[in-house]
Amino acid sequence: MGKPGKSSAKTIFVCQQCGRESLKWLGRCPDCQQWNSFVETVVSTATPPRISTLEHPPQELSQVVTDAADRFPLPMAEFNRVLGGGLVSGSLALISGDPGIGKSTLLLQVSALIARDRGKVIYISGEETEHQIKLRAERLEVTGERLYLLAETDIEVILSQIEQLQPSLVVIDSIQTVYLPEIGATPGSITQVRECTLRLMHWAKLNSVPVFIAGHVTKDGAIAGPRVLEHIVDVVLYLEGEAFSAYRLLRCVKNRFGSTNEVGVFEMGERGLVEVDNPSQVFLSQRWGEAVGSSVVSTLEGSRPLLVEIQALTTPTSFGLPRRTANGVDFNRLLLVTAVLTKRVGLKLGNQDIIANVTGGLRIGEPAADLGIALSIASSFRDVRVDPQLVAVGEVGLSGELRAVSQLDRRVSEVARLGFKRCLVPKTGVRISAPKALELIPVSNLREAIGVGLVRGRASSKENKT
Ligand code: TYD
Ligand code: MG
Repeated sequence: MGKPGKSSAKTIFVCQQCGRESLKWLGRCPDCQQWNSFVETVVSTATPPRISTLEHPPQELSQVVTDAADRFPLPMAEFNRVLGGGLVSGSLALISGDPGIGKSTLLLQVSALIARDRGKVIYISGEETEHQIKLRAERLEVTGERLYLLAETDIEVILSQIEQLQPSLVVIDSIQTVYLPEIGATPGSITQVRECTLRLMHWAKLNSVPVFIAGHVTKDGAIAGPRVLEHIVDVVLYLEGEAFSAYRLLRCVKNRFGSTNEVGVFEMGERGLVEVDNPSQVFLSQRWGEAVGSSVVSTLEGSRPLLVEIQALTTPTSFGLPRRTANGVDFNRLLLVTAVLTKRVGLKLGNQDIIANVTGGLRIGEPAADLGIALSIASSFRDVRVDPQLVAVGEVGLSGELRAVSQLDRRVSEVARLGFKRCLVPKTGVRISAPKALELIPVSNLREAIGVGLVRGRASSKENKT
């Protein structure tokens, strides 16, 4: 993308990163500081889609009618949970994720289920031919009555086709492949992505039909055609997972009709994505309770408690500065916990490399996992295992105190449900009673928690084994 020569009066230059417009070409965007991001674009002469017209004057809020049936549940419990109970008619939902993570697979599965339960669904692909989609469908054992396929990228053709079909759900795979011919920009550029999304949005609202669009993410993890897209759509979902793991998390980061933060857990199998309805069990399934440097925490993903294993390994630094590596836990929390362990508990970690790891590819951002991180580090450093029947919940403060965490009752009932015997909880704010067969151990600081949580004796000893 070099500097073009003369531009005609009808073109402008648009930054492909942030959408900033300029009359002349710029080497660097003054807004987002991206180099070489301006692309010459023909100004669209089409009138932008409008939702309100003169026939629709402003309405008083009390007079606006809502329909209880506006939201219909999907026959996929995990997906429903993420959407906050179901799909809202007329909503535009973006589902994005790395290439090959399973977006097309998930959307095809959802399409088939909706076609079965609610009527015609159209699946429009700009990436695969009908033949390729059929092959995938056979793999998923989708028969596909009332599921219509269309391999098309011209948004005007797409809109006229869906107008004719009047489906109950539209799927566009992916937004980066569709384009509006009257705009000079290439498909996937910010102008195309924005214009096409606006047109789909307009159609969805006018016809009260939900639309799903799949979107790619760029190298640095943002949705390509970047943030503008997230502003336009009603719902933004991310499908994420580790390349080496079959588990996929569907995460909601924006939802105009419900809560965000909810996650759904799926497993990629021979026949597509299968819902995982007991994720705690899955994340703990490979746990080997005797291991040193491993503890279990009860973390919240949205409103759902999840038990996950946190592992830590400490080794003497052989050269230079000690290194800290965080996989799945927040790097700054790891530094904080390490500092508190050094200063308040007296563990000499200053000459140790520390690696902390969340197993199963989950990422934990919340401070309630602090105590688990601390126990794992202390366990590895002292070469003593953590009580295998114990789960740790608590935020660590700078003076080594344990701080209360939100929704302790939910976390604790998940601990009891999975059959653990003991749960370390912060002393402050314990107002809950222990579920049956679970012992709640309130502790006020990190030193005390480590005294209770680590099993006495060397790692190899079998005493205290439960
Ligand atoms: P896909 O849905 O094409 O990903 P995206 O649309 O996000 O790029 O997923 C493709 C991957 O999923 C591919 O690596 C194969 C795998 N897969 C399965 O493991 N099982 C299946 O039943 C299907 C259809 C795909
Ligand atoms: Mg795909």
